[in-house]
Amino acid sequence: MGNDTHHTVAIFSDHDIADHLGELGALLHACVHHGASIGYVLTFSVEDGKTFWRDKVLPAVRNGSRLLLVVRRDGRIAGSVQLDYDTPPNQPHRAEVRKLLVHPDFRRQGLSRLLMAELERHAGGLNRRLLTLDTRTGDAAEPLYASLGYRTVGIIPGYCRDPFADQLDPTTIMYKAL
Ligand SMILES: CC(C)(COP(=O)(O)OP(=O)(O)OC[C@H]1O[C@@H](n2cnc3c(N)ncnc32)[C@H](O)[C@@H]1OP(=O)(O)O)[C@@H](O)C(=O)NCCC(=O)NCCS
Repeated sequence: MGNDTHHTVAIFSDHDIADHLGELGALLHACVHHGASIGYVLTFSVEDGKTFWRDKVLPAVRNGSRLLLVVRRDGRIAGSVQLDYDTPPNQPHRAEVRKLLVHPDFRRQGLSRLLMAELERHAGGLNRRLLTLDTRTGDAAEPLYASLGYRTVGIIPGYCRDPFADQLDPTTIMYKAL
């Protein structure tokens, strides 16, 4: 990361989400259109992106079952990640890492490492010491998570639709014990 740029990672409340729906929607939109396998397929509009944050993330943050971290670079939202700790009573120590997103304009600058380090710090604070996730097999996120100490459990073939093509893609299941 250069010295001439300024990065900040912040916890976003439900009010912060409501106040930044446009930028958050644009972040998700850009990632989907750049080929990310993060739950959506084309066609996908900025309005669809805003709907995701408003209808899926905001209520979970409001009811205290999800943590949303946002990284800004020079004031602009550059990425985000979520910790979903809406787990059943027999898994009070576990949480799911969801939707690590870095805007295509800001990739390979260490922002995802920064987000994940903060996420793990907060997970520890919440006593969530087992983190699980899945990511499309072969995507950039796979070596990223591996470099952060996430171990691969296995691959599920035909797990999700490709965002662009008429095909099903495999997913890799990973975990890390903090
Ligand atoms: C995966 C993603 C979050 C990485 O974000 P990023 O900020 O560019 O990642 P970083 O700069 O922190 O990279 C950290 C390390 O991850 C690995 N990595 C990141 N992008 C990579 C790529 N395109 N190819 C191979 N390795 C990559 C490298 O080991 C990298 O370290 P290095 O730059 O020192 O070599 C980003 O590409 C993204 O948003 N992708 C689309 C969304 C997605 O797939 N999210 C995961 C959902 S589970």
